[in-house]
Amino acid sequence: MNDPRLIPPPSPPISTYATENKTMSIRYLLTAVLLAGGCVGDLTPVADDGDDDVSPDAGGGGGGGVARQMFERDVFPILSAKCGAGCHLTTSSSSTPFVATAVGTAYVTAVGFDSVVGNYTTTGAAIYNKVVPGPHQARTYTADEQMKITGWLAQEVTERTTGGGGSDGGTGGGGETPAQATARIISEWSGCLKLTDFTALNFGPSWANKGSNQGNCEQCHVSGAYGFKANDDNTGMYETLSTNKYYMMAYFAPDISDPNLANAKMVPNYTNFQRVGLRQVPHQEHPSFNTNQNDAAFQTLQQLYDRTMASKAAGTCGPARIPM
Ligand code: HEC
Repeated sequence: MNDPRLIPPPSPPISTYATENKTMSIRYLLTAVLLAGGCVGDLTPVADDGDDDVSPDAGGGGGGGVARQMFERDVFPILSAKCGAGCHLTTSSSSTPFVATAVGTAYVTAVGFDSVVGNYTTTGAAIYNKVVPGPHQARTYTADEQMKITGWLAQEVTERTTGGGGSDGGTGGGGETPAQATARIISEWSGCLKLTDFTALNFGPSWANKGSNQGNCEQCHVSGAYGFKANDDNTGMYETLSTNKYYMMAYFAPDISDPNLANAKMVPNYTNFQRVGLRQVPHQEHPSFNTNQNDAAFQTLQQLYDRTMASKAAGTCGPARIPM
């Protein structure tokens, strides 16, 4: 089903693209056209089931590569059958292409999409939200499949948090799981973001008009395609980022790397922008863009972050717009 927010940009200069860059992949060439097609992705959150804890049977401690093994053995076959066969193969032009055609590149392809894995917790990874409880695009997952995916995500959290201070299956110091801490800081951030700050900083236009070697961000992301929204309407940007955690997380990432989860905090998501803008795997074909922090859009992001943190510190945040 098409998400009304994902209407393609009007009359894209397709032929210009083609003459500008003959080697551009068919994906980007067809992006704007195929957005109108049958499997346009969306990041509409479905109701959480309230069960934050994932399966604790992730097994084998935080050794390097265990999570990757679990992904390759348990998860990739599921994604391959259910997501790759549908819309999300690396060759896809219409939906986030996070499913590789072969297991060799499957892991780097999946974890390279922030909009898919986020911070790997059940509350911070979009993929979890599609699978449990489902359905997403009419795909449902058996209990066994759900367990394999949640088990893998839990192992990622364990391996990625310093000292493994409590996996998703256990609690950290304050009795909070990483998933709960993630939900807490996202929810709080949703109330701290302010329309007045978006407007004062002109946040929307700053990102919509940020350039790349294949046009401004809004050319492909004006309506939120591929999990990233860049639109020059400040109010619309505020509404989307403060009510949809997946769009929020493209700009602000929940950082749970401190073993003391009481210190979990939102950070500007420079990591993701750098990976995409520098065309690191799996974004080799993405248009390149300036990732220097002196760049105007990045400065605007930092300023919005600083203002939002200031509201938090001053206790002037509004009520949460995204429930915990
Ligand atoms: C010609 C079309 C096009 C333009 C212009 C474009 N993008 Fe993208 N963008 C895509 C496609 C296609 C994807 C999904 C595939 C990928 O990530 O390479 C994507 C994905 C993304 C993602 C999501 C990565 C993830 O984690 O899922 C971000 C962030 C992003 N783009 C940022 C930008 C920014 C910032 C700009 C402007 C400087 C921009 N894009 C310009 C087509 C475009």
